[in-house]
Amino acid sequence: MMKLFPLFILFLQVLSFTHLGLAQPNQCGQPEDKARTLKVFHVSSPCSPLKPKNKSWEEGVIQTMIEDKARLQYLTSLVARKSVAPLAWARQLIQSPTYIVRVKVGTPPQSFLMALDTSSDAAWLPCSGCVGCGSTLFAPQKSTTFKDIACDAPQCHQVTNPTCTLNLCTFNQTYGGYTLGAALSQDTIALAQDPIPNYVFGCIQKSTGASVPPQGLLGLGRGPYSLLSQTQSLYRSTFSYCLPSFRSSKFSGSLRLGPVAQPKKMHYTRLLMNPRRPSLYYVNLLGIKVGSKILNIPPEVLAFNPTNGAGTVIDSGTVYTRLAQPAYNAVRDEIRHRMGKAKMTSLGGFDTCYSDPIKVPSITFMFEGMNTTLAPENFLLHSTATSIACLAMSASPDNPNSVLNVIANMQQQNHRVFFDIPNNRIGIARENCT
Ligand SMILES: *[C@@H]1O[C@H](CO)[C@@H](O)[C@H](O)[C@H]1NC(C)=O
Ligand SMILES: *[C@@H]1O[C@H](CO)[C@@H](O)[C@H](O)[C@H]1NC(C)=O
Ligand SMILES: *[C@@H]1O[C@H](CO)[C@@H](O)[C@H](O)[C@H]1NC(C)=O
Repeated sequence: MMKLFPLFILFLQVLSFTHLGLAQPNQCGQPEDKARTLKVFHVSSPCSPLKPKNKSWEEGVIQTMIEDKARLQYLTSLVARKSVAPLAWARQLIQSPTYIVRVKVGTPPQSFLMALDTSSDAAWLPCSGCVGCGSTLFAPQKSTTFKDIACDAPQCHQVTNPTCTLNLCTFNQTYGGYTLGAALSQDTIALAQDPIPNYVFGCIQKSTGASVPPQGLLGLGRGPYSLLSQTQSLYRSTFSYCLPSFRSSKFSGSLRLGPVAQPKKMHYTRLLMNPRRPSLYYVNLLGIKVGSKILNIPPEVLAFNPTNGAGTVIDSGTVYTRLAQPAYNAVRDEIRHRMGKAKMTSLGGFDTCYSDPIKVPSITFMFEGMNTTLAPENFLLHSTATSIACLAMSASPDNPNSVLNVIANMQQQNHRVFFDIPNNRIGIARENCT
């Protein structure tokens, strides 16, 4: 707790600053989603309905830190596993949402702000009667298109150890101290103006030991029940997003589904599939530049390894980029070197902070076939009150089997990230969705 204290002061400052005078009710209109394009909101945006109501941000910040760490453990533990269950049910949900989209479920539609998650396979909704969920619940009994899934139905075969309650496909799972009870279900969901009938999702009935995303989660991973798999004919495994800054006052980001209206000209890197973790979006990170200097990072630190699952993933749910220790050290040391004799401090989990204004060169991720140069807003976290800026990245937790580099959402903000799965490529281009 004490260790985190300076960090939440930082967040307190950053967030309270950005909230000053921004959340005028008339600026918070929720525009209708256009065809095949959903608005993306940052959960802490001043207009976000899921924003913590309390003026004090401490609780939220502590939670963010804990959940980012838990997410890293979730991602790396799955990589280290010998065999991967098609759906790692319980584990997918131990995380806080960062970006949310509006999804309508059932007939007549019930509306939810679901967390967007590129590293999860399935969709989840807290359902009526749920013990341990929030107050926004999906009511299956009010939907004429809702269907239970029977235990002997083919869809139930993807579930690890289903418990057949009255021949319904239900399951109780425990992971760490966390227990999840859910029923596999089907209903029509509507994304923007597209109705998708018979969408399979987990209807959560019990959640203890951790909080689930308050209005559910929409998995955009590559597994059997992800959005991509369930909308093959409609969206052809193609989507892109622009994640707005957490400072954004509006619902200004977007999630574009399907090949139409995707960027025509951008730089791409090859999309890789790692059999150790087939749901994740792996890319080949070859090196990192600070300014024009290519850092001296041993290639094996970044190397893609299908045998042990090591490599680099693009993830929408982790907040701060994590690099294998030697890679992080190289970035950190070069920034420190450039800052010369300026007095360095640390703040919570960040170990390289300086008094503002600071002048550091850009940071470039050198992917196979594509160099992506980050703007300072993508790698510096500013505290306005204490006038400190920190390098907003850190080292991946040590894992003897396989270290994962995670390109996280702060580093993707204000970029269009295009997942073109049929062509095995990911494109990244600057786009101001503020
Ligand atoms: C808000 O925070 C204050 C002080 O931290 C606390 O006393 C109060 O109960 C909180 N309110 C809510 C609605 O959580
Ligand atoms: C699963 O959870 C439900 C609801 O809490 C409970 O009624 C049921 O007995 C549990 N089943 C098993 C096999 O633990
Ligand atoms: C990326 O930058 C490096 C070093 O500046 C350069 O050698 C390389 O050709 C660039 N790659 C691409 C795809 O532009």
